[in-house]
Amino acid sequence: MILVTGSTGFLGAHLLYELICKGLRVKALYRKGSDIDFVRKTFSRYCTDFTKKFEPIQWIEGDIMDLYSLQEALEGIDKVYHTAGKVSYNATDKDVLLRVNQLGTQNLVNACLDAKVKKLCHVSSVSALGRSEQGETITELHLWKTSRINSYYAISKYGAEREVWRGVAEGLDAVIVNPSVIIGPGNWKSGSAKMFSTIYKWMPFYTPGTNGYVDVRDVAAIMVKLMESDIKNERFIVSSEDIPYRQLIWMIAQNLERGKPFIRLPKILAEIGWRLEYLKRIVGIDPTFTREIVRSAFNKFYYDNQKAVKALDFEYTPIEESIKNTARIFLDDRKG
Ligand SMILES: NC(=O)c1ccc[n+]([C@@H]2O[C@H](COP(=O)([O-])OP(=O)(O)OC[C@H]3O[C@@H](n4cnc5c(N)ncnc54)[C@H](OP(=O)(O)O)[C@@H]3O)[C@@H](O)[C@H]2O)c1
Repeated sequence: MILVTGSTGFLGAHLLYELICKGLRVKALYRKGSDIDFVRKTFSRYCTDFTKKFEPIQWIEGDIMDLYSLQEALEGIDKVYHTAGKVSYNATDKDVLLRVNQLGTQNLVNACLDAKVKKLCHVSSVSALGRSEQGETITELHLWKTSRINSYYAISKYGAEREVWRGVAEGLDAVIVNPSVIIGPGNWKSGSAKMFSTIYKWMPFYTPGTNGYVDVRDVAAIMVKLMESDIKNERFIVSSEDIPYRQLIWMIAQNLERGKPFIRLPKILAEIGWRLEYLKRIVGIDPTFTREIVRSAFNKFYYDNQKAVKALDFEYTPIEESIKNTARIFLDDRKG
């Protein structure tokens, strides 16, 4: 039997769908207050018999910060997919990022070792691979360097990966995936899916950076393929294409039938912008445009995706197709 953590999240819900479609038995970890309906909604986007597909999931309440709840959840489990995590580029979330991503993963790794779980799939991030210095293409062999410009999210994901490698040294079999920015229908108010609602409302600006992108269904499919293979104790970049922000934003705008953002945002304005946004904290509102986001939007990141392609004979969904599919779902959701 399989346990999925973070099952009520964007990636977790798509992973549950992939596992259920393969006829596998799944326990899904949720927290008090988790939106289980989001999983049902995600299923409904891909099939008409979604209620039938949703029924076999065994739901178990727990928290990765609570070791005892993990020990209970791991009863009868031989494979674990760890997608639970905090995604934030807001420096004010430093403590929660380090707690949930690093300590939460430490708890899960320890519980998996105790329960003699056969294999763990840990969802890391390309940010845990460290930054390129001269715009070189990053591979799985890239070494992390401590630097003041690393975001707290990246530091927390790097710390989480180190916990998994420690577990491997103590006898756990694991695979690690390092996805780039994941594209797909998620919560339109947060994460990468928020790009669609922002561009739909009004977005005249684009920035000169480049980043890697991958379809959420491809991430789920690669995770399952890795877990069903003999591959163990390796990490894999999961990224379909590196695309300049301008091209990405234009593709989204076009598919949402919105005007193309036409003003290249000057760096100086972005620098002023995140500082002004920061002031929102005074009235208790989390800034949406942060220093970390500005750094990323003006940098160029390139990722080598060939390791997973060759090991799994995998063909990625082109990002244009992912955007088309996500935009269609976004517009359908708006119609209600
Ligand atoms: N989205 C991306 O572009 C991207 C790219 C690379 C890597 N990743 C990684 O992929 C993973 C999933 O990301 P996502 O975009 O799916 O995030 P998400 O939509 O925010 O989902 C996060 C999930 O983690 C759960 N969670 C958070 N804290 C928890 C805790 N203490 N105990 C148990 N569950 C907890 C959440 O539960 P609730 O529903 O109760 O909040 C939710 O189910 C993360 O590890 C992230 O770092 C994401």
